[in-house]
Amino acid sequence: MKILITGATGAIGKEIACLLASKGHDIILGCRSKKKGEILAEEIEFIYGKRPGIVIIDLSDASSVSRASNHLSGECLDAIINNAGVMNGKYILDGDGHEDTLNVNYHNTRLLTELLIDRINDGGAVVFTTSATRRWYPFQRLNDDIPESKFGRLKTYALSKKLITRYAAAIASDKDLQKRSIRINCADPGVVDTPMLSMGRWFDRLTDIFFRPFCLKPSTAAKTSVRALESPKSGYIFLSPLGKTRNKKKLDL
Ligand SMILES: NC(=O)c1ccc[n+]([C@@H]2O[C@H](COP(=O)([O-])OP(=O)(O)OC[C@H]3O[C@@H](n4cnc5c(N)ncnc54)[C@H](OP(=O)(O)O)[C@@H]3O)[C@@H](O)[C@H]2O)c1
Repeated sequence: MKILITGATGAIGKEIACLLASKGHDIILGCRSKKKGEILAEEIEFIYGKRPGIVIIDLSDASSVSRASNHLSGECLDAIINNAGVMNGKYILDGDGHEDTLNVNYHNTRLLTELLIDRINDGGAVVFTTSATRRWYPFQRLNDDIPESKFGRLKTYALSKKLITRYAAAIASDKDLQKRSIRINCADPGVVDTPMLSMGRWFDRLTDIFFRPFCLKPSTAAKTSVRALESPKSGYIFLSPLGKTRNKKKLDL
């Protein structure tokens, strides 16, 4: 299968890329840094014997997403794993006045999917990466932008994950995609020991000692994304294993 992975140079993304390469898939690393992408591509080629493709995608910037889509115009994909994500501590706006965490985790992940979905082969799949924080917004009417006065690091991240999960649920019930047997699933990795857990605060050092050792490993989270990709089912959230909890459930709106 030919699979595009966004955020491929991140902690979980790299593990997803390696796992898929080890299964013999053709992978395309979606990266915002060409240098990091090339280092990872070299590493994967060295270990698995096949060099992955690289496409530069900066999800903070809609025009970069369009360029990435043009760059991939000759490619037929079998799947996309939308793994890239941020949890910004500061309120950052793009040139059009859209907040960055929402741009990366929702608006431009959605844009990328919409630009590429027609190029996914029938029987293919799209995976979105959600988070348990989406439950912060159980019933509220949701805005897909946030003013500075309402911004909060976790709160905005949670909103972005709620919106992308809701989007996944909506396209999972799209009749055209169902006719093409394109499966739409989410992966909820759980709490994973990655740079994303750092809050840039004084208590990070305590967290590193007392909390990180109990978090899941990025390789465990990667398996969850790959389960979501390989499942014959559509419209599910796949969860990282935590004791005897259920490992998948229907996508919630
Ligand atoms: N860690 C957790 O506990 C946890 C829990 C629930 C969900 N998640 C989700 O899991 C996914 C992977 O996160 P992670 O934990 O592996 O964190 P990470 O190591 O920080 O990886 C995040 C990835 O996203 C990429 N990224 C960030 N901003 C981007 C942008 N503007 N354009 C393109 N790519 C961008 C990063 O690129 P660079 O490599 O260039 O930095 C990196 O590759 C995210 O969607 C996250 O929300 C994580």
